[in-house]
Amino acid sequence: MSENVTAMPRIGDKAPEFKAVTTQGPINFPQDYSGSWVILFSHPADFTPVCTSEFMTFATLESKFAEANCKLVGLSVDGLYSHIAWLRTIKEKIEYKGMKDVEVKFPLIEDITMEVANKYGMIQPGEATTKAVRAVFFIDPKGIIRAIIYYPLSTGRNFDEIYRALIAMQTADAFSVATPADWQPGDDVIVPTAGSCGVAKNRMEGKEGADIKCYDWFFCTKPIAKETVLKTVLNK
Ligand code: BEZ
Repeated sequence: MSENVTAMPRIGDKAPEFKAVTTQGPINFPQDYSGSWVILFSHPADFTPVCTSEFMTFATLESKFAEANCKLVGLSVDGLYSHIAWLRTIKEKIEYKGMKDVEVKFPLIEDITMEVANKYGMIQPGEATTKAVRAVFFIDPKGIIRAIIYYPLSTGRNFDEIYRALIAMQTADAFSVATPADWQPGDDVIVPTAGSCGVAKNRMEGKEGADIKCYDWFFCTKPIAKETVLKTVLNK
């Protein structure tokens, strides 16, 4: 690895610390977010169309993420005045897919030195050397990185998936389970693999927990009602 390249943070790492200037004032990350989930995401550039569609979507969904105890923080390598002008343009001029008068209330970090972007591996030179890729870091209330998604410059993010992944991780934590492919609240969850053949056999024979269903010894599920998930993770 060359001297200028920082190791990219990985799932399970502590979120790298930084202080930054944002459209909502200075932040001390991740300390300021202790006790909340936070999605730290980067976009390539202000005043670009894909990023505009993403910011309008994220701003529209901000309260939904807040209900799940999750705050949003954006970043690009543009300066503060560019951020402010772009967000004002979005609010005053852009109407897109039924979204209009959209105010971005979450902080957008200015990172003209690329210090934060480099710390988080958001500059991926094969894609662009002067812009951040579309990175999404899910950071838990203890400041641990729990998931990372990267998209190229050309591809806008899927916000249903970002929200789904957040709720899935919160559900996994709250109920000590895992979630299968395409899981949504109300779908069956995966129970930890049985530690011994006896337990697995009991499960296969339906003797352990009437609601547990086993597809084989290593693959057992159980239902958790949607209301239970929502009450636990969303307090609803
Ligand atoms: C966009 O947000 O539209 C965009 C930004 C950088 C490169 C390509 C597209």
